[in-house]
Amino acid sequence: MSRKPIIVGNWKMHNDVAQTRQLLGDLHARLGGIAEVDVGVAPPFTSLMLASELLADNRILLSAQNVHYAEEGAFTGEISPKMLASIGVDMVIVGHSERRQFFAESDEMINLKIKAALSSGLMVIVCVGETLEEREAGRTMQRVGSQVRSALAGVDAADMRKVVLAYEPIWAIGTGRTATPAQAQAVHEALRKEVEQLFDEGVAGRLRIQYGGSVKPSNAASLLSEPDIDGALVGGASLNAEDFEQIVLAARPWI
Ligand code: PGA
Repeated sequence: MSRKPIIVGNWKMHNDVAQTRQLLGDLHARLGGIAEVDVGVAPPFTSLMLASELLADNRILLSAQNVHYAEEGAFTGEISPKMLASIGVDMVIVGHSERRQFFAESDEMINLKIKAALSSGLMVIVCVGETLEEREAGRTMQRVGSQVRSALAGVDAADMRKVVLAYEPIWAIGTGRTATPAQAQAVHEALRKEVEQLFDEGVAGRLRIQYGGSVKPSNAASLLSEPDIDGALVGGASLNAEDFEQIVLAARPWI
């Protein structure tokens, strides 16, 4: 089954409003008309409103980096799916390892966030990944399998069209150390089987699974040429328009 590649830049806590304007202007010129690849950016909350205006007339998708699971309420400092949708945000990253690690997000909380975002009509990038210790102990699949099962518990099969899975080994994030294409492919294949067991072959076959963790222009093509790697979630390299463009071009199906 052919799946449209999806490349998303996770800006993390980078870029103020002026820097956002500049980078998006550059990305618009380079990638604004691209049709063969879904391209997205995930700026910080303070830039989302501006980004929504700047991206209104092109194909680049707008993502948030986090969301709360309630529609509204006494949750100081939080932002709801409905609020994101109201300013034209298309999708949200949920379960990033930095949120799990530094902000104590549990599997249960992540599951609530995913279901809330989907019911507000947002697409969701669901992140899973193992630590170096877990990999070395041979527990990679056990770990990411259980993350996927709890993340997707209670999600409707119909809503799975709006879900993208991102496999991000924690030891590869921001470290310059990338999983080899074969290592990543093995996990992606196993994750697709896991989703087939949870739903069915159709859902699993359609599901796009991104790889994330030190993706850069020099390694993007070899990762993306693996049969079960359908895109990339790019951190550091997404802050540079030229590097990000190179990664997107490496995902074009005819290359
Ligand atoms: P990196 O981050 O590309 O800087 O390793 C990836 C991510 O955390 O999504």
